[in-house]
Amino acid sequence: MAQQGDDGIVCVIGAGYVGLVTAAGLAEAGREVRVVEVDPERRAAVAAGRCPIHEPGLDELLTAVVATGRLRAVETMGEGVAGAGIVIVAVGTPPTPEGEADLSQVRGAVDEAVHHASPGTVIAIKSTVPPGTTRALARGCPRDDIAFVMFPEFLREGSALEDLRNPSRVVVGGEDSAVVQRVAALLGGHDTSRLLCDSVSAELIKYGSNAFLATKISFINEMAQLCELTGADVDKVADGMGLDPRIGRSFLSAGLGWGGSCFPKDVRALETSAGYHGQSFWLLKAAIEVNSQQRRRFTAKLLRGLGGSLEGRRVTILGLAFKPYTDDMRQAPALDVVRQLEDLGAEIVATDPVAIDGARPLLPRTTLVGDPYQAVTGADAVGLVTEWPEYRQLDWGRVIGLMRGRLVVDGRNCLDGEAIASGGGVYVSMGRRPRGLPPPVPGAAPEAIAPSAVPRLTLG
Ligand code: UGA
Repeated sequence: MAQQGDDGIVCVIGAGYVGLVTAAGLAEAGREVRVVEVDPERRAAVAAGRCPIHEPGLDELLTAVVATGRLRAVETMGEGVAGAGIVIVAVGTPPTPEGEADLSQVRGAVDEAVHHASPGTVIAIKSTVPPGTTRALARGCPRDDIAFVMFPEFLREGSALEDLRNPSRVVVGGEDSAVVQRVAALLGGHDTSRLLCDSVSAELIKYGSNAFLATKISFINEMAQLCELTGADVDKVADGMGLDPRIGRSFLSAGLGWGGSCFPKDVRALETSAGYHGQSFWLLKAAIEVNSQQRRRFTAKLLRGLGGSLEGRRVTILGLAFKPYTDDMRQAPALDVVRQLEDLGAEIVATDPVAIDGARPLLPRTTLVGDPYQAVTGADAVGLVTEWPEYRQLDWGRVIGLMRGRLVVDGRNCLDGEAIASGGGVYVSMGRRPRGLPPPVPGAAPEAIAPSAVPRLTLG
């Protein structure tokens, strides 16, 4: 009879963002980890201890754990799964055109893993999946000596290692409590909040967390619009609201809204899942609409600030990645904004500290340069899209001097408006008071050009 799997050996399927960080963290914690990756280039990078993605600290950690032999990249499921007590599935669940999560990679990985797994192995689903998926995978499994749990991840890009080492929570959901305990023990003696539950609840904890945070951002973005209409300052409003511990200040930063590989996909998938069960999740529909409107509002501010036409005007975009400390361009607001501006006739020069290579194939009409001062030279307007600290620290007097125009639109409310105005610029933001503009004429319409003037785009 085949030997039982050993929980000291963990197989991670998929060397994507979540898989790599999880694998490196488990190897650091002393487990023997095998990473199954089908892409030969990615596998070779991991095998050589090189990190194929930009994530602070991950390159060094991978080098170290590969050198100790505790982490190995393997090609076949047989090599990865044999003898492992726990198999973590961390493959992608990209959205279908209808907004559902495409589960084909998850199903494929599970089918193959089940074929090679030792008796008693637990398959832990880390990919974000709709409610009921883990139970359906267990029901469809041809073997009764294999168990399934949902093991959601809550890592943030840019601070994933910190999140892994000091997780705010560990959630494991499954139908057999002994199995759930085995997976919960994986990350060892961390002082974290553990929540053990059924698999459907664990699936909804993951979707609910991302959807709630995204809705919180959309809420403050609607408030930012009201601040502009009433003359309030959204930073002060968020600070004041955030002082209430029931609300909290985090995820109340108004601006261009949410992007990345998680929030847009997960909010839509949760909304679609609810629809599948006959529920209209109105709050999520509104959060999605507000998020898309924020990008058009930003473009409309540039259009309005440049007198209503962008034909032949040069606009410089500071920041392309969906957020700082990553080169990830997935669902980055910059993509919508740049394409909208280009469709309205503007010539775009854009810069980013790390995302230029990833952005190049996505923005074929855009001039991409590394140096921000070079990027702003001759610009009629500058729009900040990603709040990299280096843009805050620019010499804004020098920037205004290099520009042809004076307009700076701060899409992340992170720049010093006073400094820009005293350097001769006009500062416009997403819900803060403008600086460097003549005082408003009483009774004048606050928005001469509305976001509806900006064409809607659908990102592929
Ligand atoms: C998010 C969650 O924060 C993680 O807990 C989760 O594990 C992850 O998704 C996932 O499901 O894999 P991440 O996408 O890395 O992490 O990025 P966040 O830091 O959460 O930011 C998401 C988006 O919201 C970014 O576009 C950011 O610019 C935007 N944001 C964030 C705001 O516009 N305002 C805020 O106040 C905060």
